Amino acid sequence: MVGDLASSFALAATALDPTATEDTLGTLGGNGGVELYRSLVGWAALTPRERVLDLGCGSGGATREAAAAVGAHGTVLGIDACTEAIAAARTRTPDDPGITYRILRAEHLDGIADRSIDCITASLVFEQLVDLPAVAREMFRVLRPGGRIVASVMDFDQFRPADAHLFGAVIAVVAWHARGALSGRASRATMPRDPRDMRAFRSAGLASIEERDAQLIAVMENEEQAWALFSRSLIGQLLDPLGRLELRGVLAAHVPHTLYLPIRFLRTRRPG
Ligand SMILES: C[S@@+](CC[C@H](N)C(=O)[O-])C[C@H]1O[C@@H](n2cnc3c(N)ncnc32)[C@H](O)[C@@H]1O
Repeated sequence: MVGDLASSFALAATALDPTATEDTLGTLGGNGGVELYRSLVGWAALTPRERVLDLGCGSGGATREAAAAVGAHGTVLGIDACTEAIAAARTRTPDDPGITYRILRAEHLDGIADRSIDCITASLVFEQLVDLPAVAREMFRVLRPGGRIVASVMDFDQFRPADAHLFGAVIAVVAWHARGALSGRASRATMPRDPRDMRAFRSAGLASIEERDAQLIAVMENEEQAWALFSRSLIGQLLDPLGRLELRGVLAAHVPHTLYLPIRFLRTRRPG
């Protein structure tokens, strides 16, 4: 899948299971103490009173982490294109006057004033965007000069051979049961290395992007643990009941397995 189709599929899958990312990847520990939300927000070095925008906030894992960092006088706005994700975020967030959630597309940050944000966080969102140039322009617009962006993306370029072997078997099931579904982002280098992505950031004025590669570790002792991870992923959502049965069989044949899920943190800032 590519373009609008891939994006619509990702949004539909999120609507079906809006807490999947937080419940599966958000609970994993990683090498060197890495955690999905804490490490992302930590790299932003937020200070009390800052104004944060969490793009594609999903069920609010990074939003709440950022709110803790900016304290009682800071604010965090979590936005997501998916109504169900915003509902889940509101349910999971205890009453906090500093946190607001809105249904909004990252390409059109309507109602967010120019230069009004100190920091943008984006956890596992960039790879789902069709129009990265539009999002990069909007991020630049709403950031104050010197304001920063921290993001995480899945780093499929960096699999260990043993994990690539497992994923190869999983992908074979998808290729058979959902033909054509895997073109698109999977065929591009991890952000920001693909020239199209580099161009999108550069032409928006976000030129120097720092990268930090890390791994989340999923210990899968048995079929149940492997299924709990894969069945809620976008890969799992692509499959019909027969495909899901086959995927379970493939996972059963590969456990026990410790999966190192490569993740890349990106950081940049609006010059000024
Ligand atoms: C993989 S989930 C990550 C959710 C959350 N940031 C986390 O890490 O738990 C990707 C999220 O991006 C949202 N999303 C995708 N495209 C979007 C867009 N164009 N504008 C706003 N949100 C978008 C999806 O609805 C989904 O909630």
